[in-house]
Amino acid sequence: MKQLMIKPVIWKYEKAAEFAAEFDLGKGDLVITNQYIYEPYFGGLDLACDVLFQEKYGAGEPSDDMAGAMYRDMKGNYRRIIAIGGGTVIDISKLFALKNVSPVEDLYDGKLEIVKDKELILVPTTCGTGSEVTNIAILALNKKGTKKGLAVDEMYADSAVLIPELLGGLPFRFFATSSIDALIHAVESSLSPKGNEMTRLFSYQAIEMILEGYKKIAEGGEKARIPLLGDFLTASTFAGIAFGNAGCAAVHALSYPLGAKYHVAHGESNYAMFTGVMKNYMEIRCDGEIDRLNRYMAGILGCGTSGVYDKLEELLNHMIEKKALHEYGVTERDLEEFTDSVLENQGRLLANNFVPFDKKRIYKIYRELY
Ligand SMILES: NC(=O)c1ccc[n+]([C@@H]2O[C@H](COP(=O)([O-])OP(=O)(O)OC[C@H]3O[C@@H](n4cnc5c(N)ncnc54)[C@H](O)[C@@H]3O)[C@@H](O)[C@H]2O)c1
Ligand SMILES: [Fe+2]
Repeated sequence: MKQLMIKPVIWKYEKAAEFAAEFDLGKGDLVITNQYIYEPYFGGLDLACDVLFQEKYGAGEPSDDMAGAMYRDMKGNYRRIIAIGGGTVIDISKLFALKNVSPVEDLYDGKLEIVKDKELILVPTTCGTGSEVTNIAILALNKKGTKKGLAVDEMYADSAVLIPELLGGLPFRFFATSSIDALIHAVESSLSPKGNEMTRLFSYQAIEMILEGYKKIAEGGEKARIPLLGDFLTASTFAGIAFGNAGCAAVHALSYPLGAKYHVAHGESNYAMFTGVMKNYMEIRCDGEIDRLNRYMAGILGCGTSGVYDKLEELLNHMIEKKALHEYGVTERDLEEFTDSVLENQGRLLANNFVPFDKKRIYKIYRELY
C-alpha cells in the first residue's frame, strides 16, 4: 500500500533574487503572479520572461471564468510555468502546465485528455494551501455554484520553492486565514482513514509549529509573526504533504458552498466549520485517532482534553473572529441547499471523514453553526 508521495523537489531561498538567478528565469518562461508581489522583488532584476498578473482577471478566489480568460491571453510557446503567489495564483497556474485546458468546465468534468507538456515551478506567497506540493487545483465553478478540486498527478510541480522574504508584505488578515487553512489541512489529514504514520509525521509537526506560532502572536501581537514567517511557510508545506497524501475531509467539504456563494476566503470559511465538525465527530466517536489528536493539542495548549476545542477557538480568535453562518448572509434555505450541494459535489472529501456523516448530520452541523 502506498504510504507517502512527495513529487516536487523542495527548495528554500532567503531572497527572491537568489531564486531568480539559480533558476535562470528568462526567455521561454511564463511567470504568473500579482503585480504587487512581482514589482518589489523581481521588478529590478530585468528578467526576460513573460509575466501575467492574475488580479487583472478579477478579484477573489480562482474560478473557471478567471482561468479561461487568463488562458486566452497566454501567448507563446512556454517551456516553464512559474507561479508566484497565493493559492489563487498557484491553483490556476497548475492547469497551464497541461496541454489541454479549455474549456475549463470540460477539464473539470473529465472530458479533456490530461497531458502535461510544461515544467511547473510553484512559489507560495501565503502560508496556507500547501498547493506547491499537492496535485490538486481547486476552482469555483461559477455555473455550478460550488468549488471543486481536480486532482491529477500531471499537476504536481517539478519544483516547490519556499522564499520567506515574499511573505513580508502579506497582510495580517491573509496570514491568518491562510495559516488556519494549513492548520485544518494538518488536523483533517491526521484523522483521515487514508492517513498513516508517515503522513501523520507531517500533520503533527505542522500542528505544533502553527499552534506554537499562534501562542507567540497572541502574546506579542500581529508583528510577532514576522520572525516566524519561515516557520509558517514550512508548516504549510508539511500540512500540504500530509493532506496531499491522506486527504482533507468534512471541514473542507462543508466550507465550499459557503465560500462559493458568499465569497468567504477559503481559510475563513473553513474556520467557520472547523470546531462544529470536530464536535460532531466526537458525538459519534471519541476514541482512536481523535483521542490522540486531542491529547496532542491539549499538551500544546496547556489544557485538559475535554476543553481542547474551546481553548483552540480562544487562540484562533486572536487571528480572526469566528462568525455564525447568518453573519455571512446565509439564510435558513441555504442550509438545505448547502447540504445537498455537499452530498452531490464533495464525495471525494467526505470519503476521508474520521467517521461517516449522513445527510441528517451535515444539516445538523450547518444548523448548529447558523
Ligand atoms: N490546491 C490545493 O491543494 C489547495 C489547498 C487549499 C486551498 N486551496 C485554494 O487556495 C485558495 C486560497 O489561497 P490563499 O489562502 O493562499 O489565498 P489567495 O491566493 O486568495 O491570497 C489571498 C490574498 O492575499 C494576496 N497575497 C498573496 N500573497 C501575498 C503577499 N506575499 N503579499 C501581499 N499580498 C499577497 C492575494 O493577492 C490575495 O488578495 C482557495 O481558492 C483555495 O480553494 C488550494
Ligand atoms: Fe484548504
